[in-house]
Amino acid sequence: MTYQELYNKSMSSPETFWREQAEAIPWFEKPTRILSKDEEGLYRWYEGGVLNTSYIALDYHVENGRGEQVALYYDSPVTNKKQVFTYRELLDEVQLFAGVLRARGVEKGDTIIIYMPMIPQTVIAMLACARLGAIHSVVFGGFAPHELAIRVDDAKPKLLVTASCGIEITKVIDYMAIVNEALKEAEHQPEGCIVYQRPQLKSPLKEGRDFDWEAQLSSAEPADYTPVKATDPLYILYTSGTTGRPKGVMRDNGGHAVAMKFSMNYIYGVEPGEVYWAASDVGWVVGHSYIVYAPLIHGCSTILFEGKPVRTPDAGSFWRIIEEYKVRVFFTAPTAFRAIKKEDPNGELKKKYNTGSLKHLFLAGERCDVATLEWCGNLLRVPVIDHWWQTESGWPMLANMAGVEMLPIKPGSAAKPVCGYDLKVVGPDGEPLPPNREGAVVIRLPLPPGCLPNLWNDTARFLSSYMSAYPGYYFTGDGGYIDDDGYVFITGRIDDIINVAGHRLSTAKMEEVVASHPAVAECAVIGIEDQMKGQIPVGFVVLKGGVEKTEEELAKELVAMVRNKVGPVASFKQVAVVQRLPKTRSGKILRRIMRHIADGKPFSPPSTIEDMTVLPELEGLMKEKHIGQSADS
Ligand code: COA
Ligand code: AMP
Repeated sequence: MTYQELYNKSMSSPETFWREQAEAIPWFEKPTRILSKDEEGLYRWYEGGVLNTSYIALDYHVENGRGEQVALYYDSPVTNKKQVFTYRELLDEVQLFAGVLRARGVEKGDTIIIYMPMIPQTVIAMLACARLGAIHSVVFGGFAPHELAIRVDDAKPKLLVTASCGIEITKVIDYMAIVNEALKEAEHQPEGCIVYQRPQLKSPLKEGRDFDWEAQLSSAEPADYTPVKATDPLYILYTSGTTGRPKGVMRDNGGHAVAMKFSMNYIYGVEPGEVYWAASDVGWVVGHSYIVYAPLIHGCSTILFEGKPVRTPDAGSFWRIIEEYKVRVFFTAPTAFRAIKKEDPNGELKKKYNTGSLKHLFLAGERCDVATLEWCGNLLRVPVIDHWWQTESGWPMLANMAGVEMLPIKPGSAAKPVCGYDLKVVGPDGEPLPPNREGAVVIRLPLPPGCLPNLWNDTARFLSSYMSAYPGYYFTGDGGYIDDDGYVFITGRIDDIINVAGHRLSTAKMEEVVASHPAVAECAVIGIEDQMKGQIPVGFVVLKGGVEKTEEELAKELVAMVRNKVGPVASFKQVAVVQRLPKTRSGKILRRIMRHIADGKPFSPPSTIEDMTVLPELEGLMKEKHIGQSADS
């Protein structure tokens, strides 16, 4: 079947299409309805179906002859450790840790926060939650205590699972100190914390609140899986919104399992038994879907890499992993390759390794520049597939579906809509635009299985964020256009979300922190282009009268504040003091125009601008301070 035939099938009879795809996973009870609406009028997939995601990812494979196959390779150049888990071994670990959770009172529907680094125990904790029907919420380690506290207060976890530390190349990050500070700030207090002690840093445990992972295991009884409804939540993953408050993206069990399986077959074109590697972090959606769930649901061997593309120990670590584990399909963010290219522009280190096992390289997480795409292709000599998706979708929305038919690659485009996604580019009136006209990228409802059915405990925000701008469509937040051949080009976010080294961040959040400094009268944080990280945030501040600090002193304080409140992952390092910000007459800051000035892109100021003379003033200041296009980054 061709891509077009399969795609057309998914569009013309979605329920038949997704009923057939659901046959690929083992259900305890088959769904009675394929697509329905819940009591709030929101679309739901596979009502009546009963399953367990941990069973599908582990027990099912052991029962079907994969018990001795490797499920998980753990490779940690930062601790010089490697470990291998077969499906049987991983199942044993998950059963036992589920027993620990159960002994601490965890039941179906409870929430658990997991704040952990890239170690096997993180995967074990996630699957153990899924086993009990508990809802996990993994928080990325690069966030500061305040961000963790916000998530604790929103998810209201029964327990928090953590590790004593994370390791960032050579720095040891004290996770327990972050947890302690977060719990001091949070109103909600979990009943307890389970702490995995790593040899690099042992944490003092708080009597009555903290429990040592290993000690708990020694008295635990293995826990069997709990059947859950297809529509029961599997996890919550917080992601940046356009306000300072993150959004709790909810994922259900049934639609997710079907979408994961479908994507492995039809997008990634990988077979059960093969090695699939996503070099990301379990704290992001890429890690949830393509380090943990999809490879295991599909019966592949997955790799948990606790390292970076560079400096662990060098820019050859990706090639070493591909050779050592015979990786068949590899997925990472373009920024990782830009980091490698910077250190090893001619790919000399690649010559030391045999990467012949590799069939495809997939890139996502941010816009892929053509130079990076071509550099990767020339070096690895495999098709490089740019594909586009987001936390909310949980799996690709645009891709070259290599498992069906490899379409010609058009650099700069993430190819065509994936089956199930009725993608349109619309104008301000919500009407689809003709080819090559740029507009908002939207998906006609219903979204396919696996996409968010709702936000955690916030239907009103779900509707206002995604469903109200273009009635009948889900609004992705991205802009783009479709060319004459139906290829889609994503041009970037049209809201104030930025993407720094493949990490999605809210500038509104950073503005909230900067504005809280007593010397700041008003401010704007914008994301500007950066050669390595794709985008980086820059703060522009107007000072209150009478402030005597130097610009340098103030910048230092603001950088420290954002690092302490949002986290190091924000990479907020640059601040400029300005006399005034460009605004409309009603006082709205023209951030988009500021961004265009910094990136050297053409722009036309709105007729509502308060004072045009601010624009050349700002342009001059950016040049003087080496912000943006004139910077030699
Ligand atoms: N725990 C604690 N701190 C973390 C962290 C974690 N899990 N992840 C990142 N940080 C810290 C880093 O140590 C760094 O701190 P610093 O300012 O003290 O140096 C800061 O957050 C910024 O990290 P990062 O954005 O990773 O930048 P980097 O310069 O250390 O590395 C890359 C740049 C490109 C090598 C790196 O971002 C990378 O490997 N990206 C791959 C893409 C990826 O994983 N994308 C996710 C979605 S697919
Ligand atoms: P996240 O939710 O963290 O996965 O970030 C999703 C956002 O990253 C999308 O809305 C896009 O803005 C951007 N993004 C992801 N993949 C791509 C891609 N292949 N091309 C362009 N932008 C991308």
